[in-house]
Amino acid sequence: MRIACAVLTLSDSVASGSRADKSGDQVQAMIEKANLEVISRAVLPDNRQDIATLLRQLCKRPDIQCILTTGGTGIGPRDVTPEATLDVVEKTLPGMAEAMRSESLKKTPFAMISRQVVGVHQGTLIVNLPGSPKGVAECLAVILPVLSHVVDLISGHTQHKEDQEDQG
Ligand code: MTE
Repeated sequence: MRIACAVLTLSDSVASGSRADKSGDQVQAMIEKANLEVISRAVLPDNRQDIATLLRQLCKRPDIQCILTTGGTGIGPRDVTPEATLDVVEKTLPGMAEAMRSESLKKTPFAMISRQVVGVHQGTLIVNLPGSPKGVAECLAVILPVLSHVVDLISGHTQHKEDQEDQG
């Protein structure tokens, strides 16, 4: 089954219409190129409570297995995406967030500024990505190879990847 994703752009300027949603488009393009599906797109301003509410609503939808957010991960006064995500998730996956930061740190020192988190709420994976197309491209490339397997594990298919590979 193809994983169905929601893409959520979190940015005051995109939400007000003063900037195009290029990073959301970048997420969608990469997801579709990886042969996964984007079935929902939304844009919200940087408001912690509204972001948490929409994340919970999207996680309730049985047709969505993964939510990819872009934007609001930095240290600007309005950046609250990691806080809103932590308000919602029961479990965090620090390894995935650290892998994105440390791999893309090899390309730009600015990667260390992103406070992105990855976590799970009620069986749905939530991944924060930075708010630029370049940041999205560099970070998403790191986790795409494991995304389907992680979603499988979250939904209770617990067979280890090495076992699957052994069975050919
Ligand atoms: N991560 C990668 N891989 N590549 C980037 O170019 N940009 C950084 C950082 N993470 C960047 C990155 C910059 S400049 C900022 S300000 C932060 O992401 C936060 O961006 P956001 O608040 O738009 O999410």
